[in-house]
Amino acid sequence: MTVRIAQISDLHFGRDVPEVVARLLGELREVAPTLVAVCGDLTQTARAAQFEAARAFLDALPAPALVVPGNHDLPGWRVWARFTRPWRRWRSHIGTDPNGAVTHTAPGLVAVGVNTARAWTPHTDWSRGRINRTQVAAILAAFDAAPDNALRVVLTHHPFLLTGAGRRRGLVGRSAPALRRLRRRADLLLGGHIHLAYSGLVDGLVVAQSGTAVSNRLKGEPNSYNLIESDGDRLTVANRRWDGSRFATHERAAYARDGREWSAAGP
Ligand SMILES: [Fe+2]
Ligand SMILES: [Fe+2]
Repeated sequence: MTVRIAQISDLHFGRDVPEVVARLLGELREVAPTLVAVCGDLTQTARAAQFEAARAFLDALPAPALVVPGNHDLPGWRVWARFTRPWRRWRSHIGTDPNGAVTHTAPGLVAVGVNTARAWTPHTDWSRGRINRTQVAAILAAFDAAPDNALRVVLTHHPFLLTGAGRRRGLVGRSAPALRRLRRRADLLLGGHIHLAYSGLVDGLVVAQSGTAVSNRLKGEPNSYNLIESDGDRLTVANRRWDGSRFATHERAAYARDGREWSAAGP
C-alpha cells in the first residue's frame, strides 16, 4: 500500500503569492495525497486576516491535513499578547490545542505533530524552537498504538537536520535527547522553518525539510513542497519546485529500511 504525503510549510499568509497558492491547490488535487503535512509558519505576523487566509487555504485542501504552528504564528513583537495569550488566534482559526499533540492515522500511516514554537526562549533569537519530553512521550504513545508496519511520521516546525546553508538557524532545541528516544521508533521527521528544501538521514531516521511553499520570503531558492511516497520499506522524497508557472520535480532522494533503520538507496 502506497502512502503519499504532501509536505508543505512556511506558507506565511500575508506574504503569500496568490498565483502560487492557486497552483499548489490545483497540484494537490491532481496528486491526491493520503495526508497533507503542514509544518508551520502559516502566517507572517499572526494577524487575524492572515489566519483567515490560512484557514481558507486549509479548507480548500483536497486531503486531510495535519497542521503544526511555527514561530511566525505567535504575535511577534506584540509582547503583551505574546506572553498573555500567545495562541489565542491559532486556537480560534486553526482549532487545535498547541499544547497537545495532533495525530492522523490512515492505513499504513501514523503521523503525529507537536508544536516546537515557544512564546519565550532563553535564546536571544526568539525564532528558535524546542521539543520537550512530554511531547516526545506523546509521539511515542501514538506510535506504540499503531500497527507495526505503519509508517511513523513526526511533524515539527523546527528542524532536526541542517545543511551548511542553514547552519546558523539552529536545530530544534533538545533535538539530541529527542532523537535518542525516537531512534528505531520513528521513520520520518518532517520540518520547515529554514525555507530551504532538503532531505537526509540522522540516527537512522529520514528527515525531510520543505521550503516556503507559497510565500515571497525566499532564501535563495524558489517556492517548493515535498511529495513523499512510501510503500513499506522504501521511501522517496521528491522536491517539487515552482518554475514560474507550475511545480515540477527538481530533486528526488530515495531511502530504504532495514528493520527500523533507514539508509540512502538508489533512485
Ligand atoms: Fe518561515
Ligand atoms: Fe519559522
